[in-house]
Amino acid sequence: MITSPAVSSPASSFASLPRFNRPTFLMCAPEWYDVNYVINPWMAGNLHQSSRDTAFSQWKTLHHHLQQIADIRLLHPRQGSPDMVFVGHSALVQHGVAAISSFAHPQRQTEESHLRRWFQETGFLVWDTPRETAFEGEGDVVFDATGDRLWAAHGSRTCLQSHRHLADAWHTSVNSLHLVDPRFYHLDLCFMPLSGGELLYFPEAFDAASLAKIEEAFSADKRIAISEIEATQFGCNVINVGENILMGSVDTDLAQRLRNQGYKVTELNLSEFIRGGGSAKSLVLRLSDMDVTHGSPVNS
Ligand code: ARG
Repeated sequence: MITSPAVSSPASSFASLPRFNRPTFLMCAPEWYDVNYVINPWMAGNLHQSSRDTAFSQWKTLHHHLQQIADIRLLHPRQGSPDMVFVGHSALVQHGVAAISSFAHPQRQTEESHLRRWFQETGFLVWDTPRETAFEGEGDVVFDATGDRLWAAHGSRTCLQSHRHLADAWHTSVNSLHLVDPRFYHLDLCFMPLSGGELLYFPEAFDAASLAKIEEAFSADKRIAISEIEATQFGCNVINVGENILMGSVDTDLAQRLRNQGYKVTELNLSEFIRGGGSAKSLVLRLSDMDVTHGSPVNS
């Protein structure tokens, strides 16, 4: 069923929906994880090369570290949905509303019904996306640090026509960005607003008009541009909870540069998931609102 918050005041329409007063994320264990098709350039050459045991132990380490700084809900993994571990692409959540993805590739569309059911059972207001307008959750659409505006990508997976539909779910404005490099097929691989107001990004992944929008919104001192080497090691695909950052290891001084900005950074080996085309951020889906997720660290 398609339900929608069809009233004009977000505050009153969202009042009865689930709220999390601590940073909270959804994760899905890699029980059925495998690279058994190619829907992004990173999967080519990695068909059936990943070790499920190693993937499980890397995922458990990420879960362990995230648990120190956030609450975690678990989604039951399903056989036949090997990419379900990348739960970050399955929806976009804010104020108890969950916009469910409409995956571009049939290989991932099997994930949608599991997600929809979980969100319905958990009491979220489900906002469905029409099949013909592809949308891939927090993979391609993120709220800015204040939670007031959306940044949404198109050009690879999510289509431009879905952006307005998503903005309507929260009565918010949306800034559309055009991705131009197939290696960075999701926004979460090249664009990450951080809690301190900075933007971690890879400029070459965007066209000129998109870069102009980014530069208008983030002053030069707030823009942390990463190099191509860092971007291809998924240096933008980080989890940010308050002053904490969890990231897959990157073979440069990126972690140190983030520490210099005041973040507490933990680097983890997520090599098995790199084979599938993702890293830390794509393995989690934010459930708590942006202000809660970006607020004070849980244990401070
Ligand atoms: N195999 C998944 C896909 O292509 C990987 C997703 C990870 N992607 C990411 N943007 N971090 O959909």
